[in-house]
Amino acid sequence: MFQLSEEGKAYVKSELARYESKQSAIIRCLYRAQDENGGWVSPEVIEHLSQLMDIPAAQIDEVSTFYTMFNQKPVGKYHVQVCCTLTCGMLGGRELTDAMMKEAGCKKLGDVSPDGLFTFSKVECLGSCDTAPMLQINRDPYTESLNTEKGLKLVRDLRAKGGK
Ligand code: FES
Repeated sequence: MFQLSEEGKAYVKSELARYESKQSAIIRCLYRAQDENGGWVSPEVIEHLSQLMDIPAAQIDEVSTFYTMFNQKPVGKYHVQVCCTLTCGMLGGRELTDAMMKEAGCKKLGDVSPDGLFTFSKVECLGSCDTAPMLQINRDPYTESLNTEKGLKLVRDLRAKGGK
């Protein structure tokens, strides 16, 4: 059964106190819970937040399933979100995704690689079109101005880093 850490519970309380409406705190609390749950929002996470925040589970679930930054199933340690919208798409975003997935051993989008390190998603414009094609790993700063060679190197470097 998922439970936030004591720190996490204190964080939720402080977020609830920040806003006039409890619903306004849902996104930030979901981020925290996702981080503490290994990178995804399980039904147990929704239930726990619902009790803690005194908000119906259906409302928290609606937010969680609406935004692509909340994962509905387990992801690898590195969740690689490749922009494939117009500019990135035209400059090779899809080919880049395919090449990186193959290198990582992922057969399809959303899969976790056999070593547990990688999951790939295609996402909509991340607002950095002038450095297309680009991607974001987890919530880290963007990795930009990519090509296939740089993408493959990125996968190899992350694999070398492994669980560290
Ligand atoms: S199209 Fe990729 S960042 Fe805008």
